Amino acid sequence: MFKSDTFKDQIILVTGGRSGIGFQIAKDFLQLGAKVIICSRKEDQLKTAAEQLASFGEISWQACDIRKTEDIQALANMIKEKHKRLDVLVNNAGGQFPALAEYINDKGWNAVINNNLNGTFSMIREMANTFFIPQKNGIIVNIIADVFRGFPGMAHTGAARAGVENLTKTLAQEWSDFNIRINCVAPGIIESSGLDNYPKQIQDMFEEAQKAIPLKRFGKVEDVSNAVTFLASSMAAYVTGISLYVDGAQHLNFDKMGLAKVLKSFIS
Ligand SMILES: NC(=O)c1ccc[n+]([C@@H]2O[C@H](COP(=O)([O-])OP(=O)(O)OC[C@H]3O[C@@H](n4cnc5c(N)ncnc54)[C@H](OP(=O)(O)O)[C@@H]3O)[C@@H](O)[C@H]2O)c1
Repeated sequence: MFKSDTFKDQIILVTGGRSGIGFQIAKDFLQLGAKVIICSRKEDQLKTAAEQLASFGEISWQACDIRKTEDIQALANMIKEKHKRLDVLVNNAGGQFPALAEYINDKGWNAVINNNLNGTFSMIREMANTFFIPQKNGIIVNIIADVFRGFPGMAHTGAARAGVENLTKTLAQEWSDFNIRINCVAPGIIESSGLDNYPKQIQDMFEEAQKAIPLKRFGKVEDVSNAVTFLASSMAAYVTGISLYVDGAQHLNFDKMGLAKVLKSFIS
């Protein structure tokens, strides 16, 4: 679908680009001709990731905690100095932990909201004011999660991601005057480094969980990256304000009554 020059010389920032989904997104953009900047908190791992990505194209990196506005401003300054502009921002950095709502204390709640909602907003606002609005051009892709029917077991991230999704709808309208397109990608369960952080009891349930997904498998980091590159490309020039679910139809809660399953059993 894409050629090696699809994003030729475009300047693309991928937050959380040192691992998992973000690493794959950075790699794909590099292979499609972009100049990519990755950021995250852990400087050593970030540097190592950048060294690995260097064989695919021009990569730069800077440590940045998306919860700290001064870090975000320093990152914007670096990009301005080095590249003079920014074409695409991919908000991928984030994290959460499983917990029932009644056990989430203020610290845990605020940490997730701060990271996944406030950090994402601060990043969007800074990059828009520094680059996209003056340029009258820009593309934003926000990685959220499968929050279509709420998020039992992770109420904090459900609320944060729903906030980003609604923010996306607002900005698609407010910032259309500046020729800014903004969309979300909502991954289902993706086989990536992020899953390693879950406790063993939850990981033990993964095999069973795959059977409940209409496409009968977890997603791959490439599945998410393909959606991101599509939304960032000119092929999506008339697409803004949407959420693209990359979840094997999990958000549709397939076959609620078990009806299709029963009918299939008649013919097999
Ligand atoms: N894997 C899934 O099934 C799945 C499903 C739905 C949504 N998601 C979301 O997709 C994104 C990528 O997930 P993943 O599976 O690739 O997980 P991951 O490997 O844990 O990636 C998260 C990245 O975000 C960075 N990060 C976290 N907090 C940050 C902060 N405050 N400032 C800057 N960087 C920060 C981390 O780097 P540092 O530690 O160095 O900061 C890391 O590189 C995350 O937002 C995740 O919640 C994942």
